Parts: sequence; structure tokens; C-alpha cells
Amino acid sequence: MDGGIAAVALGGAGLLTGSLTATFGRDKPTAKAKQSPAPAPVTVAAASVPVGGSAQVKDPASGDAVYVVQPKEGQYCAFSSVCTHSGCAVDAPKNGQLYCPCHGSRFDAATGAVLNGPATKPLPKYRVTKDGDQLRLGPLEA
Ligand code: FES
Repeated sequence: MDGGIAAVALGGAGLLTGSLTATFGRDKPTAKAKQSPAPAPVTVAAASVPVGGSAQVKDPASGDAVYVVQPKEGQYCAFSSVCTHSGCAVDAPKNGQLYCPCHGSRFDAATGAVLNGPATKPLPKYRVTKDGDQLRLGPLEA
């Protein structure tokens, strides 16, 4: 008689376990659902970036302003606007240079290299690819 009761109890536990697994299993996010959606690519019309000029976009990861430049015909690149000295925003490129109004650092608008301190590191540079008449902001280059 006791064995019969135990079997029923175990059978009931098995049903309960299966039911809980089924219920909570559905609520488990899949690996795909855990990933946040990739940010939309940042693009700008190539025509809006004249030779020697720039267009400003925003890095979707940091929210920082980025200058897309065309220092020579058909050569595009982009630089963070965040000064490597103390983090002020550098001005838009002018006369081939980006100027930081906080302490006077100057950066080369073609390479991001420091032309005049106190900054000692170049501006972070982004890859830019041309796709038809659009420029696409790529990742930061190492
Ligand atoms: Fe740019 Fe100091 S923060 S020169």
C-alpha cells in the first residue's frame, strides 16, 4: 500500500517538474534575443563632404561628434571630435587642421596627428567607405 502512494507522489512530481520546465523554458530568452540590435550604419552623402571640408555625424556607440573629411579628392576619413588632451570638443576642420579651443592643440585634418600640443596623441580615426554616393562610417581604427 505504501509503495502505491509513493508511485503516485513521484508521478505527480514528474508532472509538476515537466510543467514548470515547459512554463519557464518558454520565458528563457534565446541567445539571439539577448543580443541588442546592431546600430544602424551611419552614412552621409559624399557630396556633403567637399575637398578640404567636412560633415559632422555622431558615433552611435559613444554619442560623440565625428568629423568626416575629404583632405584630397576621393580620399575620405573621419576623426573623433574629442580632444585627446582633456576631452574638449575640437572645432570643425579648417585650413587642413582641427583646433581645440580649450588649450590650443592642433591636429592634422588628413591624419589626425598632433601638430601642436599640449595633446600628445592623435585624434581617434574611423574607417570610412564609399558606397555609391554615400559615405559609411566604419569602426575606429587601432
Ligand atoms: Fe584640447 Fe586641452 S582639451 S587642448
